[in-house]
Amino acid sequence: MAHAELDRLQSCLNFALNALRREMDDSHLPPLSQHNSVEHPLDDPNFLPSARLFEARRLSLACLGELKNLIQPPLDKCIEEKLSLYGVVCTEVLIQAGIVDYLADVPNPSQGVPAAELATKLELDSQKLIPILRCSTANGWVRETRDSSFALNRCARTFLEGQAGRKINLALPGFMTVVETIPHWVTESEWKLSRSPLQTAFQIAYKTPLLAFSWILEHPEFLIPAADHFQVWGDMSTPSIVADYPWAQLETPVIVDCGGGEGGLVSAILDAHPSFQAIVQDMEDVVAVTGSIMEDRRPRDIESGVLKVESHDLFQPQPRIGNEYSFILRHIMHDWPDKEAATILSLTAGALGPKSKILIIDMIAVPNVDATATTTINSLSHKRVDNVIPSHFGSASKIISGSSMHMLAMINGYERSMHEWETLVRRAGLRITNIYPLRTHVSIIECALDTRAML
Ligand SMILES: C[S@@+](CC[C@H](N)C(=O)[O-])C[C@H]1O[C@@H](n2cnc3c(N)ncnc32)[C@H](O)[C@@H]1O
Repeated sequence: MAHAELDRLQSCLNFALNALRREMDDSHLPPLSQHNSVEHPLDDPNFLPSARLFEARRLSLACLGELKNLIQPPLDKCIEEKLSLYGVVCTEVLIQAGIVDYLADVPNPSQGVPAAELATKLELDSQKLIPILRCSTANGWVRETRDSSFALNRCARTFLEGQAGRKINLALPGFMTVVETIPHWVTESEWKLSRSPLQTAFQIAYKTPLLAFSWILEHPEFLIPAADHFQVWGDMSTPSIVADYPWAQLETPVIVDCGGGEGGLVSAILDAHPSFQAIVQDMEDVVAVTGSIMEDRRPRDIESGVLKVESHDLFQPQPRIGNEYSFILRHIMHDWPDKEAATILSLTAGALGPKSKILIIDMIAVPNVDATATTTINSLSHKRVDNVIPSHFGSASKIISGSSMHMLAMINGYERSMHEWETLVRRAGLRITNIYPLRTHVSIIECALDTRAML
């Protein structure tokens, strides 16, 4: 009997995995393994995959997600989804209890150690540890090498001290209460129809009138963890931004990174294109941190004035005016509702000269409609693949839909669709001059003054 959807998904998955294998071989990458504790080159957030490898991996993940949705019993799916919160807290325990660090340091990390040893060394209860480790095993972070012995999986290396996963810090204390508050906020609170960044699940859960960014400033102990978190989130796209945007065509000598945080992006751009000068702008307390990071890492650029760090409020007119400057807004617009986002964009637009560009670097939330994700798939091969993958790669776009929920809950921001980007850009007197899809979750929306609107 023909099982149309199952058959199509299976052949799509085979196609995607074959492409993945071929691309890995062509890039001279070693085989992937879940049975050792050593990092694979593809695990490095700075590794830039070929475009085809990026697509093959995304398509494989999309097929796996669709297959799971197709065959999993609904009640299992429902229970699994609700229980997934425990997976989140188990990874917190792996980090906070020192389990990841300990497992990485044992003489043979791939062999694993008994839970009893972990319990003794880390002063924990082995009876609590085993369910926690098994929950993490199901999520692939660790594996059980023998009954009740556990080893670090390579992906858990991202949780080691100094590594990117360790710095991803959605878990400000009380963060879970923001998540819990969302149903009340959206369905019955007095703010359920509000689009204000001051009337969100965040303010309800934290019992504060403050904007999320202001709350962080009021709690300086969270400033550096928050800035590190933003930087890691940004670093995911930096290699592709540097490689895939035609920087040489930019006609302005100075790049201004508005809300540029710790300055990682302009550093990478200056490394690749030393003819540019750059300015990092952010809030006063943040640029104090950024300034010392930059003095440490790029003393010569700071001394020569090639790189400047300055305080600027996104809600004040942009002081860097004219043809000398182009502007980057990475992960800025998604932080804000439409009214505030339009204000930021208009104030930046007000500083543009005819040669200036604004590069909005953010996610484009393609609606996940049925079975239209063919263009990218076809770029992997001339052979048409009859597929059933939603237009935005289904569960392979969970980072985008999840990020949209996070922005919504924290500040009434969201990840915008192409139509929403066009509206916002037009509202600011700009036009989109090009869109650069990147080998990551974000794209570059390149904008310039809409001179036609001035005629
Ligand atoms: C999501 S982070 C993005 C950081 C950076 N653009 C990146 O991609 O790594 C948002 C940034 O906006 C900054 N920010 C928030 N409100 C601001 C304001 N009113 N004026 C200037 N910067 C602001 C924050 O301090 C933070 O660095």
